[in-house]
Amino acid sequence: MEQLLDPFGRKHDYLRISVTDRCNLRCVYCMPAEGMVFQPHEEIMSYEEIAETVSALAPMGLRKIRLTGGEPLVRKDLEQLVAMLSAIPGIEDIALTTNGMFLAKKAELLKQAGLKRVNISLDSLQQDRFAMITRGGEVSKVLEGIQAAVKVGFEPIKLNVVLMKGINEDEIRDFLALTIERPLHVRFIEYMPIGSASESWRKTYLPLTAVEDVCRESGWEVEGVEGPRGNGPAESRRISGAAGTFGLIHPVSEHFCDNCNRLRLTADGHIKACLYWSDELHVRPYASAGDQEGIRSLFLKALGTKPKNHEMALALEHKQQSHTPTTRRMSQIGG
Ligand code: GTP
Ligand code: 5AD
Ligand code: SF4
Repeated sequence: MEQLLDPFGRKHDYLRISVTDRCNLRCVYCMPAEGMVFQPHEEIMSYEEIAETVSALAPMGLRKIRLTGGEPLVRKDLEQLVAMLSAIPGIEDIALTTNGMFLAKKAELLKQAGLKRVNISLDSLQQDRFAMITRGGEVSKVLEGIQAAVKVGFEPIKLNVVLMKGINEDEIRDFLALTIERPLHVRFIEYMPIGSASESWRKTYLPLTAVEDVCRESGWEVEGVEGPRGNGPAESRRISGAAGTFGLIHPVSEHFCDNCNRLRLTADGHIKACLYWSDELHVRPYASAGDQEGIRSLFLKALGTKPKNHEMALALEHKQQSHTPTTRRMSQIGG
């Protein structure tokens, strides 16, 4: 069967599925302070429609699924979807990106259903600051979630830290120190101007050289390492002798588009071949009709127009770009 290739020869074996645009938090880089008007339930893909889409794509080489949101764990009985996807021949890896607040309650059920690994967003280890960034989150709940993830045996466990100037840069050292004691993979991520290249982005974007500076100042010896499983965009390193690793994800300053193997499905059933651009195709009607040929043709069509790379850097200089940047918020795309 025809494989999921784009005009640049990139092979796509990874689908990021946003299962809801809703979230129990409102992180400053993701949602506006006043919150969002969430999409009505009837506009959101059902689990059956998602599974239909994945079964259509598995014979075309799809191997990895990542469930995202919003916050995927606010969707009822997510473990049922995990079980449905695990049963599809060809699907080898199912992962979850979560804010971790409900993970302690759900970890065991998710593991039993076939979830392999989790990436947990955690931008501060300090409660006051965490509550400010997430507008109301409790860091102790996330830490309980991480503990539960270790206990049930998710491996690897990655922590996502979006670096923000003047907000959490003074915690780089604490996050790095965490990897010395514990087998966690901390990834520092450059803040992306997605959805709106706003003033807040201009003020808070911090290049990841800040992490290298902290290692040097702390006198830590750092070695490059092969990253943990599913190591998409991160460059991985280890502090000598540490139990865990850390990674640097540079979507803004050095894009990793040449090796892009990702497709995205929004909660309302639109295919996004690239995170950054507005181009979308609505696959839900084919999924609800059980039309697997229709699903496959639409994904091939989306891949046929996939741009070579994003052009965030041009946007930041207010230069003309080749396509139109998306106006969706991160919470609607799932990162
Ligand atoms: P694995 O490699 O499977 O562990 O997943 P991941 O690291 O890609 O997933 P995660 O959801 O943890 O995302 C980490 C960061 O990378 C987030 O800030 C994402 O928005 C960003 N990211 C993931 N994929 C892409 C991509 O294709 N392009 C860009 N620009 N950023 C991405
Ligand atoms: N820039 C970089 N990373 C982001 N995330 C959400 N918004 C942004 C942004 N503007 C991260 C979240 C989560 C992952 C899916 O994407 O912290 O860990
Ligand atoms: Fe929610 Fe994740 Fe967006 Fe934060 S980044 S508001 S946790 S969807």
